[in-house]
Amino acid sequence: CLAWSNAGAQGAYPNHPISLVVPFAAGGPTDVVARSLGASMAKTLGQSIIVENRTGAGGTLASQHVARAAPDGYTFLIHHNGMATAPALYRKLSFNPLTDFAYVGQVADVPMTLLGRKDLPADGMAGFIKYAKENGNKINLANAGLGAVSQLCGMLLQESLGVQFTTVPYAGTAPAMTALLGGQVDVLCDQTTQTIPQIKGERVKLYGVTTLDRIKALPDAPTLQEGGLKDFEVKVWHGVYAPKGTPPEAVAKFNAALRAALKDPVFTQKMAELGAEIVPEAKQTPEGLQTWLKSEVDKWGGIIRKAGVYAD
Ligand code: MLT
Repeated sequence: CLAWSNAGAQGAYPNHPISLVVPFAAGGPTDVVARSLGASMAKTLGQSIIVENRTGAGGTLASQHVARAAPDGYTFLIHHNGMATAPALYRKLSFNPLTDFAYVGQVADVPMTLLGRKDLPADGMAGFIKYAKENGNKINLANAGLGAVSQLCGMLLQESLGVQFTTVPYAGTAPAMTALLGGQVDVLCDQTTQTIPQIKGERVKLYGVTTLDRIKALPDAPTLQEGGLKDFEVKVWHGVYAPKGTPPEAVAKFNAALRAALKDPVFTQKMAELGAEIVPEAKQTPEGLQTWLKSEVDKWGGIIRKAGVYAD
């Protein structure tokens, strides 16, 4: 942490660009949030924020990288529910989400959508359920690996339908979406931050949204619950983290820039168009993120252990 301990450097933070690590492929849902957020935060910080896509193992390689990075205020991570599901999914996780980070705050909540390739011979949720039960593992379900929310959604979907699809993992849902558009895979559950433009362009079949209530950005889309999957709910949330030991002053400054971005109309309008909802102020704080993360580790840990899904 040279930059930090240099005489006078404290007042100057940040004095060079900051890296924001994204655990999934460029162009996908997490990347879209990270790049818009980074652009807005850079205005407050007076330094650019460089998005770094570090893919692999459902987001856990990026988390591991940041947990071990120099705690100098120049490396941050943006991650979603995957931070909370990792301990249950990976038996040999090299970091502890609850103890190995400094916590900055939450960003936005994002609904997911269940999509089929444009020419999938199943219309509406009733048609999808029938097709899924008849074709089972002949259906290819894309996801972004164990720890991705597309995996979480797909796992709940298969449980709820009582069928097993064939899973095809990608480094993010950006390449998974490319595969869906190209007809190489049949089904994808993915966040509205990536799917709304494809849905509006009628390039995919939309079966429903994963929230309990319909969403403003897609008012005509039924919920999966309406479609017959009782209590089906997956909501994606985003947290910003730094390596444990990052100077509190840097965390505070990064948090202030985060909170300013969450009020910046350029950022908030883009999020609204993509179906994302800025979190309330209480969640925008380090404490708000930490408390939420703990509750999510408990919640998803139970669900995942019951489903028996894990990597050795
Ligand atoms: C991504 O950015 O590619 C997604 O968030 C991956 C996922 O979790 O499904």
